[in-house]
Amino acid sequence: MTSYKHSIIIAIDGPAGSGKSTTARLVAERLGFIYVDTGAMYRAVTLAWLRVGKPDIDVFLSNLPDISLSRDPQTHRQMTLLDGVDVTDQIRTSEVTKQVSYISSLKTVREKMVSLQRNIGSDHNVVMDGRDIGTAVFPKADLKVFMIADIQKRASRRLEEMKNKSKHHVPSLDELIQQMKERDTYDSSREIDPLKMADDAMLLDTSELTIEDQATIIIEKAKPIIIKHSHGA
Ligand code: CDP
Repeated sequence: MTSYKHSIIIAIDGPAGSGKSTTARLVAERLGFIYVDTGAMYRAVTLAWLRVGKPDIDVFLSNLPDISLSRDPQTHRQMTLLDGVDVTDQIRTSEVTKQVSYISSLKTVREKMVSLQRNIGSDHNVVMDGRDIGTAVFPKADLKVFMIADIQKRASRRLEEMKNKSKHHVPSLDELIQQMKERDTYDSSREIDPLKMADDAMLLDTSELTIEDQATIIIEKAKPIIIKHSHGA
């Protein structure tokens, strides 16, 4: 496994709509760390599979596309590149969302993405969010947070987000609840690196919290770790 003892890793895992991405981005910004949205990587692989017309999965796996991350020079937000082309917006469609759990359950896909994620964390301080960061990608992460929230809250947050961006089809709240439940079940019950809280993770129920609250809680936890790290511990 790649050594990452020279960098600080904050792992944030949890189900869809628990507030991971927004919180992780804010924490990273405030701490001067790099934010890595690993879900975007799985979404980009899924987009590639859809674009070539959902071919036989073994054929697709034998020649996986090139996925990489970059930063928007103006906003500094993560950009997701598929074979070198920016697909940051295209990976958010409901077609991709419907298929992403299947594609990300495949061993070949996970191995490739996990290796890319470990490389990023090997020489940068990162806040990385996903489903298996604290359990599989960085089991020795310096800080692990597992975010949850009740399903109604998660779905209405996601709906707001979709309405604001709304380039794509926006489902009803009930449809969204159903889709989220299905994705959570699929992600939690897959064989390889399922969505699961690490034993040493801090559980954060965000049902009644604001993004600001969530970021503050994580930053307070991270501060002593950063101080210790700066003293060479
Ligand atoms: O943002 P949202 O909660 O909709 O999901 P995402 O973070 O974009 O992740 C999309 C999907 O990718 C998840 O439902 C998982 O199936 C998969 N994923 C994963 O398997 N492992 C990760 N580390 C991150 C995402």
